[in-house]
Amino acid sequence: MAVYRPPEGRPVSPHLPFGERRDGAWYGKSIISVKQFSRDDLEYAFGVAKEMREMVARVGSFDLLKGKVLANLFYEASTRTASSFVAAMARLGGSTIQIHEVHYSSVSKGESLPDTIRTLECYADCIVLRHPQVGAAAQAVEVASKPILNAGDGIGEHPTQALLDLFTIESELGQIDGKTITMLGDLRFGRTVHSLSRLLAQYDVKLRYVAPDILQMPRDIVDELASLGVEQVPHDRLDDVLPETDVLYVTRVQKERFEDPADYENVRGAYVVDGETMLAAKEHMVVMHPLPRVGEIATEVDADPRAAYFRQMENGMYVRMALLAMVLGKA
Ligand code: NCD
Repeated sequence: MAVYRPPEGRPVSPHLPFGERRDGAWYGKSIISVKQFSRDDLEYAFGVAKEMREMVARVGSFDLLKGKVLANLFYEASTRTASSFVAAMARLGGSTIQIHEVHYSSVSKGESLPDTIRTLECYADCIVLRHPQVGAAAQAVEVASKPILNAGDGIGEHPTQALLDLFTIESELGQIDGKTITMLGDLRFGRTVHSLSRLLAQYDVKLRYVAPDILQMPRDIVDELASLGVEQVPHDRLDDVLPETDVLYVTRVQKERFEDPADYENVRGAYVVDGETMLAAKEHMVVMHPLPRVGEIATEVDADPRAAYFRQMENGMYVRMALLAMVLGKA
């Protein structure tokens, strides 16, 4: 991956291995779906993310995106996604316009998404968007002339999360091919598993879907992956697949997406990963969760070296630093 060499003659500190890459494949591009990424793209992005991790460990922050402005537009709650984008931008020397509570913006006056996007792109070089409607990010791209990064469109996709999830699997296990990945919990409404399963389809993996019937992986995603030859098996008991599982990807039941609260009550707490689960798991199994958790992983698991969810959220910042550098032409 010979991508970090700055153009000839450009004075660059030896501590800044990144050059101007206005010709880079991701320069000026929006990131809407994981379907945009080839395996080569993933390797490239992960290479940049590793450089970011090293740079943060070495110097904390550096001015790769000095003078660049990011708009963080969130119509839904967020802790990790929003703050890791802010931190990523800050560590690269850029700044952020944070519209976290759209209630305090002109959205509360009835402004449409296209108008809000047109406004923010006057001030920012790139817009991160989280919205409750599937397809909102694609709609934003229609009117935007600056890159849009989809930070979750309802139950649709969450591509930057899937990239950091995959980066974490590779960091934890050294490789992705050959692994059995079990997704547990709310596979119907959880957008992170919709993106991650599609991304994993590019690798030689086995997928296991453990969920109550009403929360199983949507048929269109199962069909899409089946047509790519991915082995997928649905289960309702974790015990059936735990012994063969290399990565246990746990998700929260998405209370806010249920039409009938009674349905939520029926499935909440259906699965809890605890110390006993870990006793029956492989010695090197990795436990992941996009977080927030609301009881599906007992806190007693946190001290287990196989619990990777805190490392996973740290990786989010490095992967988002890489993506920002890529779309803003600096990686
Ligand atoms: C997830 C999300 O927003 O989809 N959180 C995240 O981005 N880390 C998962 C969730 O809300 O359960």
